[in-house]
Amino acid sequence: MRITKQSEIQIKDRADILEVVQDFLSLKKKGQNYWACCPFHNEKSPSFSVAPAKGIYKCFGCGAAGDSVKFVMDIEGLSYPEALKYLANKYSIEIEEDTSGNTDEYKAQQTLRESVLIMMQFAQRYYHKLLTEDEDGKALGMSYFKERGFSLPTIEKFGLGFSKDDWHDLEKNAVKEGFTEEILEKAGLIIKKEENGKTNQYDRFRGRVMFPVYDLAGKVIAFGARTLKKDDKRGQAEPKYLNSPESEVYKKSEVLYGIFQAKNEIRNQDNCYLTEGYTDVISLHQAGIANVVASSGTSLTEGQIKLVKRFTDNITVLYDGDNAGIKASLRGIDLILEQGMNVRAVVFPQGEDPDSYVRKVGNFAFKEFLQESAKDFITFKAELLLGEVKTEPIRKAGAIREITNSISKVPDAIKREVYTQHCAELFNIDVHILSVEIDKILINKGLQEQKQKKEDIRREEEKSKNAPPPPFYVDDVPLPTEEYFTDKEVYYTNNEEVETPARKDIKYLQTIAVHEKECVRLLLKYGNYLVEGEVKLWEYLLAEIDELQFHTPVYLQMLTMYKEAITQGIKVDDSHMIRYGSPEIVEKVINLTTEKYQISENWGIMHEIVIPHESDSDKLPETAYKYILKHKYKFVKNLLKNIETQLEEELGEEEENLLLSEYNRLSMLKQQIASESGLVIDSD
Ligand code: UTP
Ligand code: MN
Repeated sequence: MRITKQSEIQIKDRADILEVVQDFLSLKKKGQNYWACCPFHNEKSPSFSVAPAKGIYKCFGCGAAGDSVKFVMDIEGLSYPEALKYLANKYSIEIEEDTSGNTDEYKAQQTLRESVLIMMQFAQRYYHKLLTEDEDGKALGMSYFKERGFSLPTIEKFGLGFSKDDWHDLEKNAVKEGFTEEILEKAGLIIKKEENGKTNQYDRFRGRVMFPVYDLAGKVIAFGARTLKKDDKRGQAEPKYLNSPESEVYKKSEVLYGIFQAKNEIRNQDNCYLTEGYTDVISLHQAGIANVVASSGTSLTEGQIKLVKRFTDNITVLYDGDNAGIKASLRGIDLILEQGMNVRAVVFPQGEDPDSYVRKVGNFAFKEFLQESAKDFITFKAELLLGEVKTEPIRKAGAIREITNSISKVPDAIKREVYTQHCAELFNIDVHILSVEIDKILINKGLQEQKQKKEDIRREEEKSKNAPPPPFYVDDVPLPTEEYFTDKEVYYTNNEEVETPARKDIKYLQTIAVHEKECVRLLLKYGNYLVEGEVKLWEYLLAEIDELQFHTPVYLQMLTMYKEAITQGIKVDDSHMIRYGSPEIVEKVINLTTEKYQISENWGIMHEIVIPHESDSDKLPETAYKYILKHKYKFVKNLLKNIETQLEEELGEEEENLLLSEYNRLSMLKQQIASESGLVIDSD
């Protein structure tokens, strides 16, 4: 679906960057802006900032920047139109479709991802409808949930459902609605099998109660399905719980069950309870504890921990009351410690899990139990190990080694110190002995990291010996890389394909890109400065730039936007570009205008750039103007050089004359620029 420009601007204007980002991150106000740890790279202290007044975000660590739309695109992995739809949905804005394209094309345009998501949404609604309206659904599914004590609002909140005990029920109904078998299979809802040259297909989930799994944004990406048969009636091949396979939209290791329903409360409570299963999450919600998620049977992954870390630094792990599970999970917890999170642990009485226990003792006693029995993880682990040591003293050394290992994973030195002292007391050994052990581990780790770093550097050097030059960087804003210039797609402008440049020209183009970037930056930042009387700097600059042909598509687009706005009498600055620009432009503009701008000396030399001294604001128009001239000069010089090489070839008379007259024109232009700029620039 194509969205009209008008609709697009409406959505962009309505979306509040704070509200949008806050659905994913926990922001803290400092001064004018809000801060959080950046979700786009790994960091321990916040360098991701949101400026509500400007409607933008920017990470000073990795350079990620953009507006609401860009943020949604990147955090959710959506395309531009998908992100607009997400925001339209969030703010209940009706989208105006651009129907000038035909509908076949529209279908083809839909990405696989989007189709799978729509498929999953359909399935969830269908299963839910069966649960509430179908005879079997009510008799089997609904009565099961009621028996478990799930209330209707709870069932609604988690979108629970029911699948009929039928090999083709979902398939038939989905096909009737226009979904293809292919999408059904891609979504993991049907299984296709080749047998004796015949394909056999059937619904994956049959006769089960359905637990939809939602992503952060509340879209259904998978299902968990519990059988309704009792243990003894189930064959071996029929597990209690069946889960969706991984798909275009479901990456198991990045998902936590319940995160969508829990995220706000996790932020508010500044703590996340981590349980094992679907039913634990749902039961605790119903008991008024909403900051709870489940890892769904698997051991915890780094991706899942990062997901929680977007909202809080505190995790409380809830353990079922059987020791086997606990020992197995201890390693996963070291991973959480490494992320700098504070981990606490609660163990339920023998034979109980959070779900059964909350139903047994009631909400109030349950909350009290959590309060009273939560222990910091190191103490918890130490006590657990100590319990083993009591029965087998010979294991003491092993236990101490394990606990020192865990303590060494805690990044914060002061916390490490506190844990060390506490464990020394518990194990009844000298605290210095423990400290020395931990220091040894840390030193070893440090040495290994150093070795790794050296190895990385050596490998880099090896690689760069024969490799083409790396992409250029000016104060962390990456310039277009070689791929950028050889990528055909970026050269489509107004439906016209422009030829991509040859490889040998790319170095020159990268240099030109630096200049073009600087031109655009000067225009955006200082274009509205007055030069003489009423004359603005942009008038000077544009007049000069006009004769230059911009080569880098993204800067060309920016320049074109700038000129278009000027012709319409609009005062252009960065906020104009952010409002109307494509995501790529938005990101570039923010990086250009918010960075402390410095071009390294090497850079200046390599690309012959003279940077206006911006502190010297009196001289600014003049220096900016001179800068543009210099760029133009360099450009003209290159054209002349090209003609010279062309003239060396055998040419027809007419062609040669044409080239010669162009050469003369450019030579004069070059002279003119030289005298106008008053710079001695013809140095080589
Ligand atoms: P349970 O075995 O307690 O499941 O596992 P249950 O549905 O509560 O069954 P009963 O009524 O007590 O017998 C608790 C959680 O562990 C996960 C599920 O998420 C479940 O909610 N689990 C359990 C699985 O993922 N797969 C399984 O085979 C079993
Ligand atoms: Mn259970």
